[in-house]
Amino acid sequence: MWEYTELVQEHFLHPRNVGEIENPSGMGDVGSLACGDALKLTLKVENDIIVDAKFKTFGCASAIASSSALTEMIKGLHIDEAAKITNQDIADFLGGLPKEKMHCSVMGREALEAAIADYRGTVLPTAEGEIVCECFGVTDLEIIRAIKESNLRSIEEITNFTKAGGGCGKCEEKLRDILRATAGETFEIKAIAQKPQRMTALQKIKKIEEVLEREIKPGLRKDGGDIELIDVDGDFVMVSLRGACTSCAKSQTTLKQYVEKKLRELVLDTLIVEDANS
Ligand code: FES
Repeated sequence: MWEYTELVQEHFLHPRNVGEIENPSGMGDVGSLACGDALKLTLKVENDIIVDAKFKTFGCASAIASSSALTEMIKGLHIDEAAKITNQDIADFLGGLPKEKMHCSVMGREALEAAIADYRGTVLPTAEGEIVCECFGVTDLEIIRAIKESNLRSIEEITNFTKAGGGCGKCEEKLRDILRATAGETFEIKAIAQKPQRMTALQKIKKIEEVLEREIKPGLRKDGGDIELIDVDGDFVMVSLRGACTSCAKSQTTLKQYVEKKLRELVLDTLIVEDANS
């Protein structure tokens, strides 16, 4: 069950600016009924000021509340100021959204961008991206943007923000590739056939600690080395090698081919191990 703020409930129960402006100055039509969420935003713009905004949304409570909030936020704004609004601004306006529903605020931001592009007669760069998630029609550029803007660190977070990966799961390997490439990973990506398990952040940390203690540390200690868990951020596991491992020429190979391999086998097959000292 999602926890909704009072503002989300208020905008869902009493949405503002519902409808469609006739002969709009700009229109953004995003999402699709087949994917479960769709938003049509129409703007009336005079001298680059948004004098009216209306929306029609098909979707959940968060989608309706985000659309309603968006129209309230942009009315009276100069088009250049409206263009700076982010999905986080929409979520903040509502006092926050459940993390699993952040894609609703992203849909609002996308509709706004599309409407502004329509008004300006320009083409959005995301329109040129390649579809990665066929279930929800999400492109690689949209995913890369979401990862960078919201510092996403796991496939679960990508799904929360873009919906990509939230259907049949066939795109998960591509999502992993994009996540690693965007996070600066350059090593060869191995195909992982297993579907990743879902676990809470706390469960993940506990399991990683357990595997480090039981499976990894004893092996390293035999050669005078050791390892310490520094942080876990989404799928990224920051560790620090200790003792003989720090001066070992093969320390990076140890991290990737031994530590990461073990953690993937025994905890979660999407984990990415990084050296906290590099
Ligand atoms: S193709 Fe992405 S969830 Fe189905």
